[in-house]
Amino acid sequence: MKMTYLEATAKFYSEVAQAPEVGLCCVQSSPLQLPGLKIPAIMQEMNYGCGTTVQVNELGNSPRVLYVGVGGGLEALQFAYFSRRPGGVIAVDPVPEMRWAAQRNLGEALPENPWFSLDFVEIKDGSAFELPVEDASVDVVAQNCLFNIFKPADLQLALREAFRVLKPGGRLLMSDPIAPRPIPEHLQEDQRLRAMCLSGALTYDDYIQQLIAAGFGQVEIRARRPYRLLDCQSYNLAEPLLLESLDSVAFKVAIPEDGACIFTGKTAIYTGTEAIFDDGAGHILAKGLPVAVCDKTASNLARLSPEDILITESTWHYNGGGCC
Ligand SMILES: C[S@@+](CC[C@H](N)C(=O)[O-])C[C@H]1O[C@@H](n2cnc3c(N)ncnc32)[C@H](O)[C@@H]1O
Repeated sequence: MKMTYLEATAKFYSEVAQAPEVGLCCVQSSPLQLPGLKIPAIMQEMNYGCGTTVQVNELGNSPRVLYVGVGGGLEALQFAYFSRRPGGVIAVDPVPEMRWAAQRNLGEALPENPWFSLDFVEIKDGSAFELPVEDASVDVVAQNCLFNIFKPADLQLALREAFRVLKPGGRLLMSDPIAPRPIPEHLQEDQRLRAMCLSGALTYDDYIQQLIAAGFGQVEIRARRPYRLLDCQSYNLAEPLLLESLDSVAFKVAIPEDGACIFTGKTAIYTGTEAIFDDGAGHILAKGLPVAVCDKTASNLARLSPEDILITESTWHYNGGGCC
């Protein structure tokens, strides 16, 4: 009988746990440099993430982190750097060979990281669809380059499961490829390409809609950059397809009545003749001073006062608002 795509995915990751495939998913970026944090070479070789989920600004107060899809343990170690307590990071993976590899790699990290203790990361058998923790019990859920493999109905299950285990106000940190247009069926149905994070990606809009459908009321885009080019010849395409990788933070907060807040790096600048502009809906703009706004507010303000308010483009690198 033919394997399901989830079985094929597990088989693929069992193989690359035993024989690491350097550069499988990763993007070029400078590794996170933190005082006293040393990453063993084997963890770097087994970096199967397509961006980063270790968003330093989200990791104050020793958070309890649930990491889904442990890979070689690189990000579990990085999260442990911030949590620094027994059981501070729970890392879940259904593939035994991957759990063993991560455990071995954490053992390699031990002598070089004096702040680290092996009980800071608890590696558990489990799946994104049934996380082995209580409702509302973790501050952070993170997954890197796993959820893009899931077909839309399964992705929704995984996102709802992440939502379930997060405390109110908790954060889902993700990195995944996205596609500029729907990926053709023949590639989507290729189980190996899907497992390799090359053919399951959704468009940006569909990806964000999935997060909102799971209940997340606020999403912030931390990074967006080129990931892989699927060329016409190798992938039997009429047009090449440039996948991007998207790093995001989704907050377990209520969805406002007028829709979720998605921050992509837009700002609103009041250019009129008064000292301030007040939209009567909680946004006060001082003349000439850019104010970070979500995409919904950006279009409301642009509609309200097109002559006096300048809206800047999405930078796709939003890192929280506020200054003085
Ligand atoms: C692309 S790798 C990413 C690994 C790691 N996050 C990283 O950044 O290096 C996907 C990981 O998810 C695991 N995985 C596969 N199916 C899973 C599932 N249903 N639930 C949780 N993890 C899964 C794989 O074994 C593998 O460790």
